[in-house]
Amino acid sequence: MNTAVPRTEDAGDIARARPADALGTSAAQARSAVLEELIRKDPGRFRVLTGDRPTGRLHLGHYFGTLHNRVRLQELGVELFVIIADYQVLTDRDVADNLLQHVEELVLDYLAIGVDPARSTIFTHGAVPALNQLMLPFLSLVSVSELNRNPTVKDEIAHSRQSAVSGLMFTYPVHQAADILFCKANLVPVGQDQLPHLELTRTIARRFNDRYGAGSTVFPQPDALLSSAPLLLGTDGTKMSKSRNNAITLAATADETARLVKGAKTDSERHISYDPVTRPEVSSLLLLAALCQGRSPEQVAAEIGSAGAAVLKKVVTESVNEYLAPVRVRRAEYGRDRAHLRAVLSEGNERARAVADATLAEVRAAMNTCY
Ligand code: TRP
Repeated sequence: MNTAVPRTEDAGDIARARPADALGTSAAQARSAVLEELIRKDPGRFRVLTGDRPTGRLHLGHYFGTLHNRVRLQELGVELFVIIADYQVLTDRDVADNLLQHVEELVLDYLAIGVDPARSTIFTHGAVPALNQLMLPFLSLVSVSELNRNPTVKDEIAHSRQSAVSGLMFTYPVHQAADILFCKANLVPVGQDQLPHLELTRTIARRFNDRYGAGSTVFPQPDALLSSAPLLLGTDGTKMSKSRNNAITLAATADETARLVKGAKTDSERHISYDPVTRPEVSSLLLLAALCQGRSPEQVAAEIGSAGAAVLKKVVTESVNEYLAPVRVRRAEYGRDRAHLRAVLSEGNERARAVADATLAEVRAAMNTCY
């Protein structure tokens, strides 16, 4: 497999021109539009790495937020690596007992939505030793105060249900840099919360090249591809999240979906209109139906009009169930063939190991540590 991915142009100048507290969000948005154009013209120059923590089944928020975009990139001809972050998940949850099950659920979700293991690599970072070894030199390139400043980590620590902050929690963004750089990915589709991690990855790549590259580029500085997907709320009107029990999973049955939507929060105004600011719950339901139908939420709202929330919920349920029907059929089929599931994972891990071994060899040569 080709590990020498050409670099894309540097976005750092734009990002650095912004105040640090904005984290370059608008710069990343502008850059993402440029990247989309480059992807359409020449998908072969991009290698994408993205992934998830194995915390259970994926839901519609994940789907319209990122999963859908991965398959889109794959279909455009971009090379795709999907990491199941089985070490990262140890930072914040007590999932160790169910880790294998969670990992398999993720593989099932990926296959069901159309990630094609013949073209894309699905792997767990725990199974790729050379990837993890990269974390050590990378750790030497960042300061404790830099790690301390990471707003996403700060936020996670603030919301963590654990009594003490583990060393892994503190350093996982460096591990994530290894996830990205081991395969020299040059494109990382992310939500806003991941931008600080990507900025750190870019810093690490730059510092490694400066310190050990002897004038050549060992690591590309990957670009963030910011998702333009609108945010879907959970059925209670707060952020859709598995831990809040307000999420419709891809794997839910049609009946479970109907029940969840039926219980969804709306408001007391009978006439249905799309207004995300003043009517967030109703608007999120409209958005969900619209995404499934491939239409605008305004159109869906106009059609329902004064028929009220009961009809809105009926439309949402039908739209989601129709949209997800083929995904659910495929998921059930793959779910009956555990051997295939394990084969997908072990082949992905093998591919990832080959790439990681090549990169580590290069890193050792650059660091003059080939003994
Ligand atoms: N931190 C990501 C999440 O919580 C998962 C992840 C791990 C990831 N390694 C990554 C995402 C590398 C992008 C690139 O969803």
